[in-house]
Amino acid sequence: MRVLFTGGSGKAGRHVIPYLVDHGHHVLNVDLTPLAHPGVDNLTADITDSGQMFNAMTSYANFGELEPGAGVPKLDAVVHFAAVPRILIRPDNETFRINTVGTYNVIEAAVKLGIRKIIIASSETTYGVCFADGEVSPPSLPVEEDMDVNPMDSYGMSKVVNEQTARSFQRRSGFDIYALRIGNVIEPHEYGRFPGFFANPQVRRRNIFCYIDARDLGQIVDRCLNTDGLGFQVFNAGNNTNSVDMPTADIARRFFPGVPFTRAMGEHEALYANRKIRDMLGFTEEHDWRRYVK
Ligand SMILES: NC(=O)c1ccc[n+]([C@@H]2O[C@H](COP(=O)([O-])OP(=O)(O)OC[C@H]3O[C@@H](n4cnc5c(N)ncnc54)[C@H](O)[C@@H]3O)[C@@H](O)[C@H]2O)c1
Repeated sequence: MRVLFTGGSGKAGRHVIPYLVDHGHHVLNVDLTPLAHPGVDNLTADITDSGQMFNAMTSYANFGELEPGAGVPKLDAVVHFAAVPRILIRPDNETFRINTVGTYNVIEAAVKLGIRKIIIASSETTYGVCFADGEVSPPSLPVEEDMDVNPMDSYGMSKVVNEQTARSFQRRSGFDIYALRIGNVIEPHEYGRFPGFFANPQVRRRNIFCYIDARDLGQIVDRCLNTDGLGFQVFNAGNNTNSVDMPTADIARRFFPGVPFTRAMGEHEALYANRKIRDMLGFTEEHDWRRYVK
């Protein structure tokens, strides 16, 4: 597929894009800074400028595309990852503005240009545990996609708004727009942090003990590209098990006391449930932390 990917130079994108390229996609990365990766084209553009997004989606990706003389090739999909990725980087209002206006611009341009597959990065923070003031528990466990989203921070708020923006544009167009509630992204070199998580599991509480290997996130995006006809969907994007070496029931008892379970869970099954991506997209985890942490 010919894919326009926003924010591909960042922590997640620099692993997701190589996965997509390895699986046969052609990627145009639209970011404020380029990504140096063989076969990837780059365009420097700002998602908060609607004109730049319409332009990016109607442009040649490289000189080679001039050769057939058949005009600008159509995009098959847009993957939108560009964002301010958490609170405490920019002032709260800027985080909210860039993320919501940027996402509106990207989805609007894609829909109005007839690009029928759009995947956006939402976040675990929508559930309201991650950037809460004080210690907040989810209403029930595991955390699944039908749970209410009710954050109290500007970043989580921006992602809730973005999901609604996606839903509204999906309703108008009938296209496929999937929002990934991405958990804490772990790059290959970051598995060295895990012994620290095991020694002090409290540090993973705000992430509901979730992690997503950046390459497994690549697989999830690829599965979204290859799975058509689901309309508007939100998917938790996390790995199969928790990011600490404790049984799930023990984690819940110690860190979420009194929170009821809505179903029986496997011994190490992630409290941040990924059942929906396994069932609906055929996600098969490749990078369990146990492969990298002794
Ligand atoms: N890293 C995580 O653990 C995590 C967890 C949940 C959700 N997410 C979401 O996943 C996506 C990617 O996160 P990341 O960790 O790779 O973030 P990152 O900050 O490393 O990468 C984001 C990229 O977006 C680009 N960008 C920012 N503002 C832009 C603008 N106005 N126009 C064009 N490009 C712009 C940046 O240059 C950067 O390359 C984000 O939407 C983030 O909110 C990340």
